[in-house]
Amino acid sequence: MASFQFIAAVLFLVAAVVFGGSNAQLSSTFYDNTCPNVSSIVRGVLEQAQQANIRNAAFLTRLHFHDCFVNGCDGSLLLDNADGIESEKDANINRALNGFTVVDDIKTALENVCPGVVSCADILAIAAEISVNLSKGPSWEVQLGRRDSRTANRAGTTGLPLFNESLNVLKDKFSAVGLDSTDLVALSGAHTFGRAGCLTVTPRLYNFNNSGNVDPTMDPTYAQTLQQTCPDPNTPAGSNTSTTIVNLDPTTPNGFDNNYFTNLQNKRGLLQSDQELFSTSGADTVAIVNRFGNSQSDFFTSFAQSMINMGNISPLTGNNGEIRLSARSASVIFWINLSSDGLLICRNYAAISVCGCLFVIGYCNSDLSQLYAVYVSGAVLVYASNALGSDLGCCRGAGVVSKPGWSESVV
Ligand code: HEM
Repeated sequence: MASFQFIAAVLFLVAAVVFGGSNAQLSSTFYDNTCPNVSSIVRGVLEQAQQANIRNAAFLTRLHFHDCFVNGCDGSLLLDNADGIESEKDANINRALNGFTVVDDIKTALENVCPGVVSCADILAIAAEISVNLSKGPSWEVQLGRRDSRTANRAGTTGLPLFNESLNVLKDKFSAVGLDSTDLVALSGAHTFGRAGCLTVTPRLYNFNNSGNVDPTMDPTYAQTLQQTCPDPNTPAGSNTSTTIVNLDPTTPNGFDNNYFTNLQNKRGLLQSDQELFSTSGADTVAIVNRFGNSQSDFFTSFAQSMINMGNISPLTGNNGEIRLSARSASVIFWINLSSDGLLICRNYAAISVCGCLFVIGYCNSDLSQLYAVYVSGAVLVYASNALGSDLGCCRGAGVVSKPGWSESVV
């Protein structure tokens, strides 16, 4: 019984350390004490990335959106396939996403300065704001304090809007995550930069709704220009254009401005989902498009507010989720019974050793071939990991119990 109480107490304390955190809601000052330079570090990486490829700003902005609409802004989008994880990246709608290596670079830069502090979900929110700002768009106070999911939800990607959905469906999908028509119009304004594949527009250019014609809500001259870049995929000329791309905003393709809305007013929206905001008669979105088309500052103010609204979609806070150590993988938690009174918990490379009430932070390696055991006996840390400079050989035979699927884990 006593040992049961001991184990229960240990598990409680371990959970507090591994999953711990306060119950704070999002706030712009969340990292002020723990990682005060987070914003300038992200900006530094993004400035370089932007120089290497001007498209990165659009990539990063879109990633935050595709993260937030599936299970909330929890970094789930970034997880690669793994045991028990069906990556969201492999869903059709996410196949054309880019910018993941830039996120890796940001994560590495932050881990070097504030290890285990800044969540990947927050990185996406910060990166979106800086990307927009680097493209001459607005800035806003990013709300922070999200934690990362330990799972992905590929099936949940059906909640993302499609380019050929009706305005009512788009509104429903936004409303399902607590966003209204103003958010829909303002956030669609992110299509003021970036590119889209020809296949997202060819249905409008040829045989729209089986009419044999161009979508009547598209300016014919604009349609002709697009047809040159994106030939009919049902003809030999168009059979090979699945990777050809066109600008979402034909006027200023890389700058963040309100031209997206004046384009819509001129029937020059690229996607059906774009043009519907203006061309659906009687829709409440028409007046909003006009407002943003007539005033860039109105658009900027609303865009900033809507990005904050989107960033608030079901964040994990408090004891939920974790601060992932790598953008692409949830932390692996090993539980190793070292002795009758000791437990070793390895969270990727960081190991938290527990003995009675004593927590000792050590290091081990998530690559099981190199797992370093931190042996705890009584209240004393007997052997520490390589990182602490001890002789790992001494851990041999410490009585580590392997979990199913593990290889021999004693070093
Ligand atoms: C209203 C519903 C939306 C639909 C139906 C939609 C759909 C699309 C599609 C089909 C593409 C082109 C993908 C490709 O072919 O590679 C695209 C690109 C893009 N979307 Fe959206 N989107 C929507 C809302 C948003 C929102 C809310 C944001 C961000 C706040 C956003 C940001 C972007 C960006 C920046 C790109 C360009 C990406 C690049 O250059 O590779 N979109 N979107």
